[in-house]
Amino acid sequence: MSTPSLLILPGDGIGPEVMAEVRKVIDWFGAKRDLAFDVSEDLVGGAAYDAHGVPLSDETMEKAQQVDAVLLGAVGGPQYDDLDFSVKPERGLLRLRKEMDLFSNLRPAQCFDALADFSSLKRDVVSGLDIMIVRELTSGVYFGEPRGIMTEGNERVGINTQRYTESEIARVARSAFELAKRRDNRVCSMEKANVMESGILWREVVQKVHDEEYPDVELSHMYADAGGMQLCRWPKQFDVIVTDNLFGDLLSDVAAMLTGSLGMLPSASLGAPMANGRPKALYEPVHGSAPDIAGQGKANPTACILSFAMALRYSFDLGAEADRLEAAVEQVLAQGVRTADLMQAEGDTPASTAEMGDAIIAALDASL
Ligand code: NAI
Ligand code: MG
Repeated sequence: MSTPSLLILPGDGIGPEVMAEVRKVIDWFGAKRDLAFDVSEDLVGGAAYDAHGVPLSDETMEKAQQVDAVLLGAVGGPQYDDLDFSVKPERGLLRLRKEMDLFSNLRPAQCFDALADFSSLKRDVVSGLDIMIVRELTSGVYFGEPRGIMTEGNERVGINTQRYTESEIARVARSAFELAKRRDNRVCSMEKANVMESGILWREVVQKVHDEEYPDVELSHMYADAGGMQLCRWPKQFDVIVTDNLFGDLLSDVAAMLTGSLGMLPSASLGAPMANGRPKALYEPVHGSAPDIAGQGKANPTACILSFAMALRYSFDLGAEADRLEAAVEQVLAQGVRTADLMQAEGDTPASTAEMGDAIIAALDASL
């Protein structure tokens, strides 16, 4: 297979700062593991607007469609707040997700042992936690028609429509079952089949995909509200959770906070397989552009580095190298290296963005 290609879109605010550390990691894999990537870099968000008057140029969009994986930092910032909606930085990201048809959003909630005390839950509830929420990203109530604020009689009515086709449900279910096969082989599907027809269809289709294509994966169903309770009560009961766009938005944020800081959370958004068998893919940290700390070398690069680990695993089938990178992060945390967002005691000196990146590189070196 030809050299895997990566398009890097650092974006705005802390995006370029954390991406600089990811570049160190990519270079390390090239130099020390003989894993070369064909890396190109381009603009997205406010940075693209400043250069081209649009948050994502057609040329960049075209490149994103060609490469094996896109790695994005973050977009947005207060200087762009007054821009017209059509050219807001976020529109660049939305265009990528829409035109690449990234229907499966993977949000891991993984608890690094050294950070277990960061959780709002007790240590034994979260330590060792490793679950994956798969959220449907391109359909459901955020997209369904009719929508809008209408007038009915003498008052207004706000309308959104939850709408899922069988094929939309089936493809995200497949993506969850495929993931489960590489993990602990268990999927829990969440909807509200007790009160929503779309939930009844969701449950039926997930069960059918399971029975016909993945009978060896353990499947359970849960109402999404009960799922929220169970996530807080005993999250380790789950392996992969698959759910719709709206419930996934809420449940993935709940799961994220089980494990602590925004600066630690990666994500992946996957689409259909390309000609070479790899899925269309965009990897990005969950956090935004953090204008309050941008330009100060304070940002935690770990979320973006762990997003690259997800790329190694899900785009390039390099699970062992992804494990190596995650273990390096775990080790650095265990050594007590902390960026400011991970500090608990006053008076300790936090590591800078670059120091955190360098510590991860040193741990990678030590892994050889
Ligand atoms: P944010 O995630 O940028 O920041 C929230 C808080 O977390 C801030 O106090 C920030 O300093 C801190 N934080 C975030 N990432 C961090 C990191 N890596 N290391 C250390 N601390 C970190 O969310 P906020 O403030 O709501 O939004 C700021 C801008 O980012 C807005 O323009 C928003 O639209 C945009 N945004 C972009 C996203 C994206 O590109 N995917 C996602 C969320 C927000
Ligand atoms: Mg959300």
